[in-house]
Amino acid sequence: MILYPELSETLVVVTGGGRGIGAGIAALAATNGAEVRVLDLDCDFADESYASLPLSERCRIEFIRCDVSNRADVDHTAERLAREGTRLSLWVNNAGIVQTAGLSEIDVEMFHQILDVNLLGAIFGSRAAAALMRPHRAGSIINISSMTAQRPLPGRLLYGSSKAALGHATRSIAKELAPDHITVNAIAPVSTETALLNAAYPDEGSRRRRMDAIPLGRFCQPRDIANMALYIGCPRASFITGQLIMIDGGASL
Ligand SMILES: NC(=O)c1ccc[n+]([C@@H]2O[C@H](COP(=O)([O-])OP(=O)(O)OC[C@H]3O[C@@H](n4cnc5c(N)ncnc54)[C@H](O)[C@@H]3O)[C@@H](O)[C@H]2O)c1
Repeated sequence: MILYPELSETLVVVTGGGRGIGAGIAALAATNGAEVRVLDLDCDFADESYASLPLSERCRIEFIRCDVSNRADVDHTAERLAREGTRLSLWVNNAGIVQTAGLSEIDVEMFHQILDVNLLGAIFGSRAAAALMRPHRAGSIINISSMTAQRPLPGRLLYGSSKAALGHATRSIAKELAPDHITVNAIAPVSTETALLNAAYPDEGSRRRRMDAIPLGRFCQPRDIANMALYIGCPRASFITGQLIMIDGGASL
């Protein structure tokens, strides 16, 4: 069902959309008639992630191999998108990695790895998106943060720090791009049913304990995030900018 007709025939870019939350956003955008470009390091999961999507909607999605932490790679991909000529309405910086390490286990390499993808990747993406949106004086950039940015979890010092820094980047870029009528917001999910969650909570006991901390009694689903992303991506949300929107089943209360 088409819920966001304003996105129809516009370009929607989702980084890290080969699977998980990004695939949920990309699929919903295609269902709403958008031309979708998924930028991912690894497009091998794509067939599995999009298997349930009708072919007519799947045809709207193109997978482009791109490392968001590599500025040249992102810029090169953006030039290719510019040549397509379709107006970019929404760019979602969703690609992210997680690391589990306590204070004594952290080293400089881990720090750079996670900041390069979760923070710099979103900054490079925003820069590329802004260049494509400016001529139209419209558009929406969304950064996928995490509830961990606000509520520390054991072993997630670097991950939470990268997402907290992304919160500042979101507000800062929102202010910079407001004169161009480009909005920039962040969505902060609680634990969401994806491969990343399964890796973080591999056994039934740890999953159960994590779920017990969510008052609404279930994990977040990619569709919960996708609905918010597409709403913010529509012109009807064009007065919302610089916000961090928690989608957490009440876990932050
Ligand atoms: N799953 C959760 O519980 C949860 C909770 C809060 C926030 N998040 C955030 O949501 C986003 C998506 O998470 P997910 O659970 O869908 O993860 P996922 O691991 O299932 O998918 C992440 C995707 O990003 C891609 N990716 C990783 N590094 C990349 C890079 N350098 N360049 C391009 N693509 C890259 C991967 O190949 C993968 O397809 C992440 O930013 C994550 O931090 C997830």
